[in-house]
Amino acid sequence: MLFNDEKLMTGQVPAEEPERQAYFMKKAAQQLREVSERKGRPLTFDVVTFGCQMNARDSEKLRGILEEIGFVKTDTEEADLVIYNTCTVRENANTKVYGRLGGLHSLKKQNPDMMIGLCGCMMQEKQVVETIRKKFGFVNFIFGTYNIYKLAEIVSESLASPKRMIVDIQEKAEASVEQLPIDRKYSFKSGVNIMYGCNNFCSYCIVPYVRGRERSRTPQEIMREIERLVADGVVEVMLLGQNVNSYGKTLPTPVSFAELLDGICEIDGLKRIRFMTSHPKDLSDELISVMAKHPDKICPHLHLPLQSGSTRILQSMNRHYTKDSYLALVDRIRAAMPDISLTTDIIVGYPGETEEDFQETLDVVRRVRYDSAFTFIYSKRSGTPAAVMEDQVPEDVIKDRFDRLLSLVQQIGREQTARFTGKTMGVLVEQINEQDASLVTGRLDNNIVVHFPGDASLIGKIVPVRLDSCHGFYYLGTRADSDALVSGT
Ligand code: SAH
Ligand code: SF4
Ligand code: F3S
Repeated sequence: MLFNDEKLMTGQVPAEEPERQAYFMKKAAQQLREVSERKGRPLTFDVVTFGCQMNARDSEKLRGILEEIGFVKTDTEEADLVIYNTCTVRENANTKVYGRLGGLHSLKKQNPDMMIGLCGCMMQEKQVVETIRKKFGFVNFIFGTYNIYKLAEIVSESLASPKRMIVDIQEKAEASVEQLPIDRKYSFKSGVNIMYGCNNFCSYCIVPYVRGRERSRTPQEIMREIERLVADGVVEVMLLGQNVNSYGKTLPTPVSFAELLDGICEIDGLKRIRFMTSHPKDLSDELISVMAKHPDKICPHLHLPLQSGSTRILQSMNRHYTKDSYLALVDRIRAAMPDISLTTDIIVGYPGETEEDFQETLDVVRRVRYDSAFTFIYSKRSGTPAAVMEDQVPEDVIKDRFDRLLSLVQQIGREQTARFTGKTMGVLVEQINEQDASLVTGRLDNNIVVHFPGDASLIGKIVPVRLDSCHGFYYLGTRADSDALVSGT
């Protein structure tokens, strides 16, 4: 493929990507074969993902590279190579990783040849790498968010010197290497990165510091990737970016996200398009009309993070919208697509949040009526402007507000979810139900989960299902005739 065997023979390391990584995949494969022959068995790996969809997609890339090298995938951490792909958006994400590293240490004592790798957003923080060097000396290698494509090179180096901790962190994005192998979790749906990084610097958020500035891929590159995925059996794509609404603004020939979506709708064989995340400040009327124009392809779902309902707090958060402008945006969206599902993220206890501010958040929740909402307790991230703000809210006050918010979003979420009861809609079947093997589980185009009687032959297909009864956040249904569909495909 990308690689010329002669180079491996002569030991010449290509300087250019992706040839360089193709070289290291071959080299690591050779090194791995030697270890494997010595042990008399194949070597296994497990990649554990923390955090968001971006990390989940990155993990698919890591798995693709490891399989190409010859490691065998397993889903237990009792493996020969374990990689944690970490998140640092809230403090508890970091605590979880440190806690689980203790467990890995015990496993490594039983299997001294075990390799442990760390990557992802946490590794872009200097103090984290310091802590790992000091307290977790048994870790074999660390790399960051800008060089996951270098995994083969790092593994090869680590196989050659297993006693040394290899630390390879870049300060910013230098190369974007896309043509490497990918192991998709699902055969029928896939994430597709349309952009990397974030320029928004919301005052509480660490993401711009660990993922760097916004970089958009070209529409041609994205379209080609989706066409390849469709040819490989994918029917649903999720376009990924921290703020998809600012897609394309920095390209040599600027393109809007709405234009990109319109183009993707033309790809034959692609049935469902999702995207996340939409920043409310950049959501254009053009996007609303493109969504309304393709109700059969673009899923009727918008994840529209609110963060707070108080204009004063939103201003301090650097979100660039107000309570009123957010509500007006929701009205425009609903006017164009009355049945759309709206979901959101909300932070409770941001510095300086008063009971009045919190009441504004509850008010927006009551007015918008989200299908579901992720609610987070504010977490201080050092290096962000909010971390040094005065008026940090006491823990007991936050806890009380959090409980009140959660019960409201759950009550409204249940009522909203139930609005499709009795209808027949398309379900993309994902898997056999985990509790009851006579059922299959899938999702409506608006992302609601449905369980219904069926078997493995339905996985990856969009099947019409009558939504018989709603149980909180999911439906139980029965398969219906194809001509009974009222929505979806
Ligand atoms: N780019 C996305 C969000 C990515 S982070 C957006 O702008 O919507 C996902 C969510 O984590 C955010 O929407 C926010 O609600 C939450 N979050 C981010 N930083 C946080 C912090 N310091 N404390 C608590 N929640 C946080
Ligand atoms: Fe963080 Fe704001 Fe960027 Fe989202 S838009 S990743 S919340 S800085
Ligand atoms: Fe976490 Fe990084 Fe995503 S900090 S939320 S994994 S971009």
